[in-house]
Amino acid sequence: MQVLNLLFYMRNIASFEETADMSETELYVSKIKDGTVIDHITGGHALDVVRLLGITGRENGTITIAMNVPSKRFKAKDIVKIEGRELKPQEVHKIALLAPHATINIIRGYKVVKKQEVKLPEIIESIVKCANPACISNSNEPVRSKFYVDSEEPLQLKCHYCGYIMEKKDVLQQF
Ligand code: CTP
Ligand code: ZN
Repeated sequence: MQVLNLLFYMRNIASFEETADMSETELYVSKIKDGTVIDHITGGHALDVVRLLGITGRENGTITIAMNVPSKRFKAKDIVKIEGRELKPQEVHKIALLAPHATINIIRGYKVVKKQEVKLPEIIESIVKCANPACISNSNEPVRSKFYVDSEEPLQLKCHYCGYIMEKKDVLQQF
């Protein structure tokens, strides 16, 4: 009887398998019904993505976070699955700042209905503030922040107003 139970349990886990080269780590990450899967997040940034999306864990839907999952393309990746929520363009741009190789998958009825690679626009307006306190975009003047993406990885954003170069750590402090 116990053996049968065990077999049944193993079959259930196996039905969660996601890819042919399934690894031990992914075996326990179940598929979602409706929502968003943010895949290929740069290793180590899953919690930053969760934070910038304002997820507290007190929402209704299930949130799944997988970290340091072995990946074919990169050494290790993180994955965040959010049941019952689709992302706004501003949120996708924020993710792109931290995880330029991330893929956003929209899931409906268990199927991937849309797959989008995140892409940073060449000019970033209003998403982050300039880290130079003396910058005019930080004064009381009605000036919106504006940056040019000099480099995606490592991240370098050049302020249109003062020329300050923002790095990933400057951006992380604001999310
Ligand atoms: N996924 C999920 N729930 C679903 C469908 C897919 O959680 N109902 C997840 C998968 O586990 C995967 C991601 O969404 O992490 C993308 O799914 P899919 O396109 O089927 O996987 P891949 O082909 O491996 O994607 P890619 O080519 O982007 O690596
Ligand atoms: Zn500036």
